[in-house]
Amino acid sequence: MGGIAGRIAFVHAIAHIELNAIDLAWDIVARFTRLDLPRGFYDDWVAVAADEARHFTLLCDRLVDLGVAYGDLPAHDGLWEAAAATADDLLPRLAIVPMVLEARGLDTTPQAITRLRAKGDNATADILEIIEREEVAHVAAGVRWFEFLCDRRELEPIPTFQNFVRDRFSGTPKAPFAVEARANAGFRHEYYAIWDTTPA
Ligand SMILES: [Fe+2]
Ligand SMILES: [Fe+2]
Repeated sequence: MGGIAGRIAFVHAIAHIELNAIDLAWDIVARFTRLDLPRGFYDDWVAVAADEARHFTLLCDRLVDLGVAYGDLPAHDGLWEAAAATADDLLPRLAIVPMVLEARGLDTTPQAITRLRAKGDNATADILEIIEREEVAHVAAGVRWFEFLCDRRELEPIPTFQNFVRDRFSGTPKAPFAVEARANAGFRHEYYAIWDTTPA
């Protein structure tokens, strides 16, 4: 993130994640309509899609300030691969997308904000602060509907989550975890304690 090129690459990468997040929110709305879920399920993900669209727009505007546009750089396909790997069932989708990938954003964003401020890029840091604050609700929606579905299927949420992470996710969740932000989303430490290598 030191030079301008590194900063542009960073903002572009986050913009790409937000664009994928828009698609993922609408995908969860449209793909799982046969499960007889409450209206609140769809309302939650429509609200997530609106947030992600706002995040994407903020970052696109920031890229223009930096002299480039979204699409000028190549981007990786990791988020969409996670969507494809969980297209058959809402339960692993919730485990991997909001509870692993979006929760990962809660872990890494505070550090990025600190580094951006140290480099004097307060404009990007301010955007990431909005994103950090609003992503808590996305993780919360993930946990809430994951637990709702576990209850309906008479599954224990914590071992079920851990099995999905092992079977459907190519990596492992990485410490350090933002335990407090995760707790604010209703994401209890017991869910990911087996991967938490930070000394107590
Ligand atoms: Fe977002
Ligand atoms: Fe999100």
